[in-house]
Amino acid sequence: MAKKDNVISLPHLVSGLAMLNLTKEVEDLKSVRKDILEMSVRALLKALECKDDYTFGHSMRVAFYSLQLGKEYGLSDEQLYDLELAALFHDIGKIGVPDSVLLKPARLDEDEFLKMKKHPELSAEILKGFAPFEEAAKFAKHHHERYDGRGYPDGMAGEDIPLYSRIILIADTFDAMTSTRPYRKGLPYEVAFEELREFAGSQFDPNLVEFFIKAMERDQAQNQPTFALGIIEGEFKKDAA
Ligand SMILES: [Fe+2]
Repeated sequence: MAKKDNVISLPHLVSGLAMLNLTKEVEDLKSVRKDILEMSVRALLKALECKDDYTFGHSMRVAFYSLQLGKEYGLSDEQLYDLELAALFHDIGKIGVPDSVLLKPARLDEDEFLKMKKHPELSAEILKGFAPFEEAAKFAKHHHERYDGRGYPDGMAGEDIPLYSRIILIADTFDAMTSTRPYRKGLPYEVAFEELREFAGSQFDPNLVEFFIKAMERDQAQNQPTFALGIIEGEFKKDAA
């Protein structure tokens, strides 16, 4: 009589196949969930682009610069995904800033500046209602906190400020300094690096500033005029006009 040891019984075979099916269904659901999440990101960013295309381009560049810093700092792929999401969304609250303030081609007065300062909290308000964006809401809310505790909205200091918020602040300020606006020309990278170093320890996390400069010097050496992101499709220009 043949040995039965190597024979898989029918019930085992059926339950094995059912498990395989279930695993595939879970994977499919995960991928559908990711697709829906990314469609929501694109829809919200489209709304931002309709409001102000400069802020849309700025958000793409801030995501790119944040990722350069995150990679240099050694973040994992999963962490980089969360960082990209938070950086793309950091200024989404500008949708709620009046056009007369957001699009003013000159210096803001005190009252206008107070309205502009609301945008990190507005970003968090917009994002926090959708569970997958809850973490991004927190990082966006704190992207104007300063390392010395003199930022806003909560006056957090040092490493109490979430890491991704500290990263986004450096990327955000670097883009604000280097992009050309109708009323002023962007600074060369080297001058912007010096500015970041000058405010390392007061405005910025000094450790992260050095990682950022190292990453951006490497990026500069590659001399690529455009960049691509993971969540948002397309090629974007590094040079803001
Ligand atoms: Fe901002």
